Amino acid sequence: MNCGIPVTKDTYWVGVNDRQTDLFESIWPLPRGVSYNAYLVADEKVALIDTVKNCYEADLIGKIQGILGKDRGVDYLIVNHMEPDHSGAIKVLKGFFPQMKIVGNAQTKEFLKSFYAVDDSDILVFKDGEGLDLGTHKLSFHLIPMVHWPETMVTFDWATGVAFTCDAFGGFGTLDGGIFDDEVDMGYYEGEILRYFSNIVGRYAPQVEKAIQKLKGLDYKIIAPSHGPIHRKNPNYIVEQYARWSRHETDCGAVIAFGSMYGNTQKVAEQVARALSAEGIEHIVLHDTSRSHPSFIVRDIWRYSGLVLAACTYNMILFPPVQTLVEHLKNKNMKNRILGVCASYSWSKGVALKALKELAASGGWELLEPQAEVKSSPTPEDLKLCDQLGKNLAQRLKACQSAAG
Ligand SMILES: Cc1cc2nc3c(=O)[nH]c(=O)nc-3n(C[C@H](O)[C@H](O)[C@H](O)COP(=O)(O)O)c2cc1C
Ligand SMILES: [Fe+2]
Ligand SMILES: [Fe+2]
Repeated sequence: MNCGIPVTKDTYWVGVNDRQTDLFESIWPLPRGVSYNAYLVADEKVALIDTVKNCYEADLIGKIQGILGKDRGVDYLIVNHMEPDHSGAIKVLKGFFPQMKIVGNAQTKEFLKSFYAVDDSDILVFKDGEGLDLGTHKLSFHLIPMVHWPETMVTFDWATGVAFTCDAFGGFGTLDGGIFDDEVDMGYYEGEILRYFSNIVGRYAPQVEKAIQKLKGLDYKIIAPSHGPIHRKNPNYIVEQYARWSRHETDCGAVIAFGSMYGNTQKVAEQVARALSAEGIEHIVLHDTSRSHPSFIVRDIWRYSGLVLAACTYNMILFPPVQTLVEHLKNKNMKNRILGVCASYSWSKGVALKALKELAASGGWELLEPQAEVKSSPTPEDLKLCDQLGKNLAQRLKACQSAAG
């Protein structure tokens, strides 16, 4: 990956793999890194679409020079998104290619000035749907606000049908040789695309739906996002998946997330899991909130309609790792979930259970009966309540599945 890689006519991937950052946005774990995809369209005029995180400027410039040679420069830098994972190389790049104009919309211009003090005279501002002519390649810009920031846009190349979609359809994970959907293990990347979607842009699901409608008006052949693989074999698949996720459509399955210090609450969680399985539910994901990062739990909750939270009480509040998960869930505005809750305590009855039930109310979610509240360690009666909760959830999941066809 030390040189640019052809994508289609005159179009190259010139991105980089980041294997050093362990937390994206200083929050989200990157067990297998992340790629920052930048693209070069080398026509009569040369356009670079997005850059990379700072620290990787030399890598990016080396790839550009490998394609253009030393005598040609970049004419336009098109900034689809100003988050520094894509804009971080702007200052260095501008120093390297002084004639380069920086292209965006009115909101991009504001951020170019506040982040990098770019001169007005170096910025070209376009409105929604307007475009730029490189020679053979005619580019147009389509604003998709809040997917992921207010200034975010898609660049579309009418000559090749490539939609450069930035964060939309992107996911974590470096590109380890293959860069296209037909070259890599899409099972892995799809999980990481959903983790990116659910944690980074899922909160803005209504705007994602609007963005997809806009994209459907373009005759795209290739979806080229700014993270993860490029979709050329089956671009519609990822667009449809994204559309489903943004409509809060789910698969038949359940996540059980528990918080337990000494194992008592874990027994409760496992009892519910067993009951679900006994009722024929195949997709059951059990997360220990002390060990699974919330981004993985949120990802799985975005996928499945059933959710069971089981938490002990800690210093008069909900066990902190469960509390953190609850805060993440409230921030995401997820819809249509079926929630079961179980709590444990030793001396402050009601505290943890109330906090968990409150989540159902705040999300407008269905709250299932019964709710086991365990004193110190589960009694046989408590475990029967867990069995009943698992049965009730299984019935609701099956009903949703048959309603979906
Ligand atoms: C550090 C610590 C703080 C706790 N704080 C509370 C509390 O404020 N109120 C309460 O009712 N129980 C409290 N408990 C008791 C546990 O919530 C209770 O024993 C529970 O059954 C433990 O479940 P676990 O075995 O799954 O960790 C606390 C326990 C520990 C270890
Ligand atoms: Fe972003
Ligand atoms: Fe990004």
